[in-house]
Amino acid sequence: MTDNTILITGGGSGIGQALAWRFAQLGNTVIVAGRTEASLEETAQGHENIHSQVLDVADDASVADCAERIAREFPDCNMLINGAGIMSLDDRGDMELARRIIDINLLGTMRMCEAFIPQLSGKPGATICTTSSGLAFVPLPTGPAYSASKAGVHSYSLQLRQQLKGDIAVIEIAPPAVQTGLTPGQATREGYMPLDDYIDETMANFEKDPTPVENLVANVLPLRNAEREGKVEERQEMLARMLAQRSE
Ligand SMILES: NC(=O)c1ccc[n+]([C@@H]2O[C@H](COP(=O)([O-])OP(=O)(O)OC[C@H]3O[C@@H](n4cnc5c(N)ncnc54)[C@H](OP(=O)(O)O)[C@@H]3O)[C@@H](O)[C@H]2O)c1
Repeated sequence: MTDNTILITGGGSGIGQALAWRFAQLGNTVIVAGRTEASLEETAQGHENIHSQVLDVADDASVADCAERIAREFPDCNMLINGAGIMSLDDRGDMELARRIIDINLLGTMRMCEAFIPQLSGKPGATICTTSSGLAFVPLPTGPAYSASKAGVHSYSLQLRQQLKGDIAVIEIAPPAVQTGLTPGQATREGYMPLDDYIDETMANFEKDPTPVENLVANVLPLRNAEREGKVEERQEMLARMLAQRSE
């Protein structure tokens, strides 16, 4: 919780920004990374222990530049939080959109991990966090590409945890629906969890000793546990009803 140097992708807004502020308050050094310089600067403003780095996780050269700068300027970096992601509430049938979603959400996470494992390896408290979603476990009826990208992040997290065992801890953060700017209107959408409440519960999970390998708030458990409870179809229908109510 303290004395770490943490790179947070997607740290310019939403969940990543809120985590950046919380971890900075606890005395960690934080570097926020994303494509939009202005939002990174806004996150860092007034916090001498928050730095910024322009980064596109879908671009191999940008990821390599970022890894090189962090190794040079922040040699104590021991944590990577992969928060960068995009979503459309309806990505059905749009293969170009599907390609972008998978390139950022899944391959972006893999690119970042591959680029940072060499410099995290062997560091005290070395940790990688990935961000999946409740929708990794019960797909959104209108979000095949998004849901599959997050199911891919879950699978990759399991693989990586085994691969890095004893060296780098791997924690999967699986948020429920949270009020952020991820999709238009979401920041105020009724029924979504307020961001501050989500972050309070997420930080409390990080504080647990030992830290759970999946950071799950109570709201996500109906989706996370659907398969083991034999309720995937039921929960898919629940998501379909929520979408139908919204479009009424
Ligand atoms: N909010 C929810 O309900 C919810 C639920 C489950 C999972 N999640 C996941 O939580 C993560 C954070 O989402 P959020 O809700 O906080 O939404 P958000 O505010 O839109 O945050 C997403 C961040 O990712 C960055 N990003 C997008 N594409 C990028 C790229 N190619 N390279 C680098 N950065 C990129 C964005 O910044 P730029 O556009 O400036 O690059 C933005 O800061 C995402 O992975 C999302 O899928 C969210």
